[in-house]
Amino acid sequence: MKNAISWILVLFILVSVLNNCLNTSVKKEIREKAAFMDKLRNLYSSGDPSRWPKSVLDTESISTFSEIGHLPEISFPSDNQYSSEKELLGKTLFFDPRLSKSEQIACASCHDPELGWCDNRTFSFGHDRQLGVRNAMSIINTAYAKNPFWDGRVNSLEKQSQKPIEDQREMSGHMDMAAGKIAAIKGYQVLFEKAFGDKSVTKERISKAIATFERTVRSSASKFDYFIDGKADVYTDDELMGLHLFRTKAQCINCHNSGYFSNNTFENIGTSLLGEKGEDLGRYLVTKNVDDAGKFRVPGLREVSRTGPYFHNGSMATLQEVIAFYSKGNPEYSQKRTTIHEGITLNSEKSGMVRMLELSDREIVQLEAFLKTLSSKAGRITIPELPK
Ligand code: HEC
Ligand code: HEC
Repeated sequence: MKNAISWILVLFILVSVLNNCLNTSVKKEIREKAAFMDKLRNLYSSGDPSRWPKSVLDTESISTFSEIGHLPEISFPSDNQYSSEKELLGKTLFFDPRLSKSEQIACASCHDPELGWCDNRTFSFGHDRQLGVRNAMSIINTAYAKNPFWDGRVNSLEKQSQKPIEDQREMSGHMDMAAGKIAAIKGYQVLFEKAFGDKSVTKERISKAIATFERTVRSSASKFDYFIDGKADVYTDDELMGLHLFRTKAQCINCHNSGYFSNNTFENIGTSLLGEKGEDLGRYLVTKNVDDAGKFRVPGLREVSRTGPYFHNGSMATLQEVIAFYSKGNPEYSQKRTTIHEGITLNSEKSGMVRMLELSDREIVQLEAFLKTLSSKAGRITIPELPK
């Protein structure tokens, strides 16, 4: 009996020593993790990006890399300088459906300020309720896009604005006709005089005014901006880890960098659906350079939580889906790897920078949490009164 009691005692002591050891090692792990997070938080919110952990870049992305951070000030081109009168005229035109053939469709029909300056649809409805073929991009921060559109087919916002007016599926009109209609509206003459010095209404002036307005549509400071400026406690641990993953393990920063979160290049991430229904050759359609087949402009990611669905064809509904797609490295990006377009055989090879990342479910959630911190508070937009 005595023996049994001693054995139980020994066992009890053994178990509690073991338990204690285990506890200390768990506690140590927790302490180490907390110290790591504290360190990350201090570095990223230090206000000095040169102290941030080194970002993980591929050699091919180095030449177009600049660190993520605040959006720079907007620069206006020398032949279309800013004035508040020009901005107001441009804004009025942006909301005016009389630029379209049916007089029913304005730029704002597909670029609605209450819907993240896009329309949150896979494809937009245009003239006669025809469906478009690409996802409407948000115009927020478009001032930072070197080549507007998914395929970058124009090189300025001035040139961009006449495209939707003349696109048969969108506004189905003509710039000369639109200018004629606007010129006949008395109320506009005052606005043109204030913006350009005289009453003359030309298509060039319409484009310049709309471009000036678009350049002012810009994100205000987001949670990310406050955090990197030193407000260390605005980020949760998940948001912080998401930022770190974005720059390191997940390597999003290879392409989505600078204050605009795009390096303004064209990349192939395997979304062209080569040889399938919905095939879109992207940049190739503009350059006819075979290496460009399947490349699309790297979109900026500010406000991205407000601008779904995602990609040029609106094929992904949520950010989690997009991140899971990258995590797998988009393995089955196309059933077919070649297509014949206007007699020319084209391949579409996805970039080597799209590869298996093996992100855990937790890491996907953390990246999503970070992307959401890139949205600023949507301010209310007063819609201008349309001149009569
Ligand atoms: C019927 C819907 C529709 C209308 C109307 C429309 N857009 Fe768009 N917009 C789109 C789509 C779709 C795209 C992407 C097309 C592409 O890349 O091929 C786009 C792209 C853009 C872009 C490029 C953004 C970027 O960052 O690259 C700008 C700027 C823009 N539109 C401005 C305008 C202006 C200005 C008007 C009015 C004159 C207008 N849009 C009318 C659907 C529309
Ligand atoms: C090789 C360059 C490259 C890398 C690396 C990359 N992206 Fe992209 N990203 C693109 C391109 C190009 C598109 C547009 C593709 C299309 O529309 O078909 C895009 C689109 C997106 C979109 C959709 C935006 C919109 O407005 O529709 C999101 C969100 C996004 N990327 C997030 C990420 C995240 C998160 C990572 C890291 C896990 C990442 N990207 C890595 C090039 C890249």
